[in-house]
Amino acid sequence: MPNTEIIPVTKGQTETEQQNLRRAADCIRAGGLVVFPTETVYGLGGNALDGEAAKKIYAAKGRPSDNPLIIHIADVDWAEEYCHTTELFYRLATTFWPGPLTMILPKRDCIPDSVTGGMDTVAVRLPADPIANALIRLAGVPIAAPSANLSGHPSPTTKEHVIGDLSGRVDMILAGEPSEIGLESTVIKLEGDDVIVLRPGGVTYEDLCALLGEEHVKIDRIVTEKVTGDFKPLSPGMKYRHYAPNATVVLLHGTEELITGFLQLHRADPDVGFLVYEEEYDTLPAARTKHMGQRNDPAMQAHRLFSCLRDFDDIPRIKTVFARIPSREGIGLAVYNRLAKAAGFTVLDLSDGDAVNEIPTFAVLGLTGGTGAGKGAVSAVLSENDIPTLDTDRVSRLVCEAGQPCLAALAERFGSDILLPDGTLDRAGLAALVFGEPDADKKAEKLSALNRITHHYILEYARDWLCEQKAAGFTAACIDAPQLFESGFDTECSYIIGVTAECETRIARIIARDGITREKALQRIASQHDDVFFAAHCDLIIENNGDPDALKQSVQKLIADGAFRR
Ligand code: TXA
Ligand code: MG
Repeated sequence: MPNTEIIPVTKGQTETEQQNLRRAADCIRAGGLVVFPTETVYGLGGNALDGEAAKKIYAAKGRPSDNPLIIHIADVDWAEEYCHTTELFYRLATTFWPGPLTMILPKRDCIPDSVTGGMDTVAVRLPADPIANALIRLAGVPIAAPSANLSGHPSPTTKEHVIGDLSGRVDMILAGEPSEIGLESTVIKLEGDDVIVLRPGGVTYEDLCALLGEEHVKIDRIVTEKVTGDFKPLSPGMKYRHYAPNATVVLLHGTEELITGFLQLHRADPDVGFLVYEEEYDTLPAARTKHMGQRNDPAMQAHRLFSCLRDFDDIPRIKTVFARIPSREGIGLAVYNRLAKAAGFTVLDLSDGDAVNEIPTFAVLGLTGGTGAGKGAVSAVLSENDIPTLDTDRVSRLVCEAGQPCLAALAERFGSDILLPDGTLDRAGLAALVFGEPDADKKAEKLSALNRITHHYILEYARDWLCEQKAAGFTAACIDAPQLFESGFDTECSYIIGVTAECETRIARIIARDGITREKALQRIASQHDDVFFAAHCDLIIENNGDPDALKQSVQKLIADGAFRR
């Protein structure tokens, strides 16, 4: 395995950068592999005239060797040496090169079979990125380069993606800016006076029509349809399942109203992710939602799509991603094509009630309220009625047991003095450290760090627990959390119940439970959200002033009418 050298590059091209580019070009000529940025996606390059280099590319990517490579040139003049050009080729090159267009033409003998996967045609592209262009020019040979991802992963649009996929598999990585376009080039096959779009990209169908006339531009059915069986695609690469995150991607088709309703119905599913437009990002749980840009901004959608798909792999528990179907206009066709391929062309028609009903839903009730309001009585009734409840006060103790990662994170932030000799948490010590801090700004900072760390681990525990309840066959579960809003978990709930009680009732409960003075009890109440806050932020307020029958009735009424399932 090569020891991969990671070399930062910018568009500035300083003296050091020039030197590095010369070294990278030498490496290519010597048969090595260099990852380089382009305006579409990062490429994994090797000498296109060297059959052995091509074999190394396939091995590094883990890619089947019948899938041909694109050769990248530094100037239009180079093309004639490697393929049989036509008048149409020069018309297209003059208009769209350098840029995100790849043209397929009959190859010349100097291009080895291992580059073209045995085909008698070759794909040629002149990239616009200055780093790519300088590298090819310095190498003095065309560079064969597929996208620099491991086979099956989405194409890489940032240096982090490339480093993650190919460190240890290539000689050098030129680590530059995120790719401007974000989707691979448009691939067209030239046939007589016509072109066939095999893969849509930054040079759009509309662009090609404007130059050649609509009658001369065809879109291969592989762009918009799932092709199976013995169909032999014009472009071998198109038959492979591509761009796929680990989760199953499902595209949502239907009216705006149906889509919004469906997204909200599933918002609390702990194993579901959402890929939506920026405009609706705030209406879904941030922990499981990615946005591809605004609805009317297909260029941004192209730029962000692959990063979003990769990001879902970093979110634990996600089994399904529900995704918006973007507009197919302009570069939107390319966004649609990549997303549809990630989904294996699976589309859920929301007007088909049977299909929609087959997808299980899971409701998450958030239960919150001030101290002494009597949330416990509500969770008891829910549990009796097949809605299991998780008490996050209990979880906050569990995650701080000896050896737990939460405790390690707290010790890292606040110092190991917060640990007792047996490795457990010194609660009083930590409280003194945070609440006893005399400087107001420092105190606020400490308190926010304490909350950030503990909330993170409590929420992770809660999300695992919710997945377990769903797997066990429950259709709803409840998270009992005094800090529901502070932790941000409110956004992950289907429905929020706030429990309130009259002040005197709360004081009496607190004194009886914790044995503190009336004054201290009042102080505690005053430090929390008031009833007006809960009324404004909860879907339902249950008053718990001590009549167990009235309480039971309110909860049972809620369960019976199922408002929390909508
Ligand atoms: O934007 C891009 O095109 C990037 C950057 C690095 O330039 N490259 C890229 O390469 O996406 P790759 O190998 O991931 O995709 C090339 C596509 C494949 O689907 C392949 O099957 C098709 O082009 N292709 C290459 N040569 C072909 C040929 N002779 N006939 C038909 N299809 C071909
Ligand atoms: Mg690729």
